[in-house]
Amino acid sequence: MSVTHHSPGDEPISGHSLPLLYNLVYCSRATAAVDDAEVARILKVARQFNPVHGITGLLVFGGGIFFQWLEGPRDAVTQLLANLRRDPRHGSFVLLSELEEVRERLFPDWDMEHVTATDIRDVLLDAKGEAQDPKNAEALTQLLEQLDSDPLSELSQA
Ligand SMILES: Cc1cc2nc3c(=O)[nH]c(=O)nc-3n(C[C@H](O)[C@H](O)[C@H](O)COP(=O)(O)O)c2cc1C
Repeated sequence: MSVTHHSPGDEPISGHSLPLLYNLVYCSRATAAVDDAEVARILKVARQFNPVHGITGLLVFGGGIFFQWLEGPRDAVTQLLANLRRDPRHGSFVLLSELEEVRERLFPDWDMEHVTATDIRDVLLDAKGEAQDPKNAEALTQLLEQLDSDPLSELSQA
């Protein structure tokens, strides 16, 4: 007998074939103590915790700046947000967007990229080019606008 397994974030809500996802996007400046080994430790924790809780996304680190996209069930993502906010490895933390929507996952597999700060933009442009869901394309357009506005440039110049 085969059993179909759904992660908690992929339970379709009534009348929709797509899941209800809580999507969180932030950028932060890493404290001086964060080196490659520390980033590897963060990634290890994320790879253990996130799949079990139905969370997927993307973590980008470059130029001393973290950029993270998280999507999954509301409770799991907001619990993780509370942990992230009190994590001492963040020198400053800027929440760029927080949104609950019925949509396909933009990053169905957890991934991590080491890039320069300016390349973060290219990561988002690629994601936008591949987005099937118009809501995702729109979210990424807004994100690109946010990246070009105050929060990230203040972090980059800090
Ligand atoms: C940039 C950054 C990204 C992180 N991303 C995740 C993540 O995706 N998933 C996760 O479980 N922990 C992540 N963490 C670690 C959390 O901040 C926190 O250490 C972890 O949830 C354990 O929380 P606790 O020590 O309060 O129990 C991240 C930390 C940093 C600095």
